[in-house]
Amino acid sequence: MKLINRIIALTLVMTFNIIAQVKHYEVRELYLIVIGILGLLIINLIVNIVKYKKDFITIGISTISIIGIISIYLFPILGEIYVKNVIAFFYLSLLLIALLPQLFNQEPFTIEISKGGYPESVTKTEQFLNINILIAYLWALIFLMALVLTIIPYSSDKLLNTILSTALPIIPQVTIGIFAAVRLPKYLMGRVKAKPYKFESIEDMFMAMPYGLNKSEAKGVDTLVQFCLMGKEKVEGYFTIKDQICTYTKGKHKNPVTKIISDSKLWLDISNGDISGDEEYLKGNYQVEGDMSILLTFGKLFAPPSSTIKEKKIKKNKREVFEYKKFEPKKIKNIVIFDGGPRNNKFSKTTFMTDNFTKGAIEAGANVEYIKLSKMDIKNCSGCYNCWTKTPGECIYKDDMTELRRKYREADLVVFSSPLYIFNVTGTMKTFMDRLLPIMKPYMLSDKYGNTLHPDRFPELGEQGFLVFSSGGFPEVEHNFDGLKAMYHGWNSHSENAHLMGEFYLTASEIIVQPVYSKRRELISEACQKAGKQVVEDGYISQELMDVPSKLNITKEIFKSQADMFWSTMDGKKAYLSSVPRIK
Ligand SMILES: Cc1cc2nc3c(=O)[nH]c(=O)nc-3n(C[C@H](O)[C@H](O)[C@H](O)COP(=O)(O)O)c2cc1C
Repeated sequence: MKLINRIIALTLVMTFNIIAQVKHYEVRELYLIVIGILGLLIINLIVNIVKYKKDFITIGISTISIIGIISIYLFPILGEIYVKNVIAFFYLSLLLIALLPQLFNQEPFTIEISKGGYPESVTKTEQFLNINILIAYLWALIFLMALVLTIIPYSSDKLLNTILSTALPIIPQVTIGIFAAVRLPKYLMGRVKAKPYKFESIEDMFMAMPYGLNKSEAKGVDTLVQFCLMGKEKVEGYFTIKDQICTYTKGKHKNPVTKIISDSKLWLDISNGDISGDEEYLKGNYQVEGDMSILLTFGKLFAPPSSTIKEKKIKKNKREVFEYKKFEPKKIKNIVIFDGGPRNNKFSKTTFMTDNFTKGAIEAGANVEYIKLSKMDIKNCSGCYNCWTKTPGECIYKDDMTELRRKYREADLVVFSSPLYIFNVTGTMKTFMDRLLPIMKPYMLSDKYGNTLHPDRFPELGEQGFLVFSSGGFPEVEHNFDGLKAMYHGWNSHSENAHLMGEFYLTASEIIVQPVYSKRRELISEACQKAGKQVVEDGYISQELMDVPSKLNITKEIFKSQADMFWSTMDGKKAYLSSVPRIK
């Protein structure tokens, strides 16, 4: 019926236009016909307003025409202009219809037309509204073009002029207009900013999700997520996400990448952002089978591009380019690892890295000795300098350090492995480093950079490399590992024969044992193994491998909320090590 209203209005306007084209301003003398058209337009408009209230298309077309026709008798100057430009006024009414509703907080005129191609759950979202506002503005531009093309004088020949001014305005409408109607909404879905929408049911949400896939977040994602939801709404269905396209299929897939089993109300609340998915998962309120890493990104994949400010990007200083030592291939045969952490390899994230490094190095043919410093008898340096004076190279303490110093100096490659404790190595590691003093002589040397250093007591043993492995609970390297780094860079620049070959800093270390981080763990273990192999086979370690442990696959905001939530579940309740998953 609404459509019939519109067609009647359009037909009346076009009929009047034809008469006006033939009779020109003399049209005003055809009282019966003009008043008849005017009367029908008014009746049609009243019927439309009473029945449909806000059908802006009929209201717009009719109102402008009614004013134009009335002015023929009441305001002759305006009336004459109208009679000469009926089509131009028609496009003016369309321009206003396209432009005004959204400016007055009404739905844009396109929404009604585009609603047809989408489920109701999509058409209710803010994203859908915002897309339609954009499309309405595009239509306003098209109608403006049509208006201009209508009033341009093309030729002195009246007939030719009429044909051109009628035909040309149609071109932008059928070209740009069809593109706007058919291609644009699909393209803009998942790209236009909007606030997340709260769904009332799982069914609504699942139907809408394929349309709401956030295209930029979905780049490179190739997965299949099966949902088995129980409770109020029993739903079995799966989402396939590939090539930035998401499809939803009802039923069970034989081979899902991830399977989520949950109560439907719980999943709806999580998806609507009313409760925390991480917290519910940790409480065991829903289960995830298969690849859990999707949980870290699932929310982002279906959140509309946010209009809120993204995580502040800290201006980073240019990364200092450090030249790590490279030796000739196969020079490194004997490696010794000094582990300064208190935890064993079931819990230590630093040892997790060095264990993997060891695997790679052994595979490449090196001998690797692992020494847990906390199990050794190592006294604190007394500062007596007897190792530099009375008994050169010998410490006053006859503890395990005598043997450890020998092992240190004889290795082709030394690995310093220490957790990050208060922005530096552990006390155990520091004590060990202090007690290495006897391997230097007290005299002063200057290197080519002007650094002052002590000569090597055993230059005949030649050059050796060293590596640093450390893990910190905070998510950043900058201003966190600075102290530890400075110490080992100092060791590098102030040693005659010990050269830094690489550094591995694992950030946000404690959470990597959680199942959702299995992918990150895998990448780290792979990188460390490759580094072990590379340093033995090629004599150096590539920067890309060193960078892997400090790469976070989540934002700091997500890290913070997960960490806080995790610690709150432990606070005053549980012993840490007996409650967290082991790394090995
Ligand atoms: C005494 C202490 C001090 C710590 N200080 C820091 C620190 O300054 N920065 C940091 O990122 N993490 C810090 N942490 C967290 C540890 O670095 C983190 O738990 C790391 O995984 C420990 O290494 P591990 O797993 O090899 O034992 C500290 C932990 C402890 C127990």
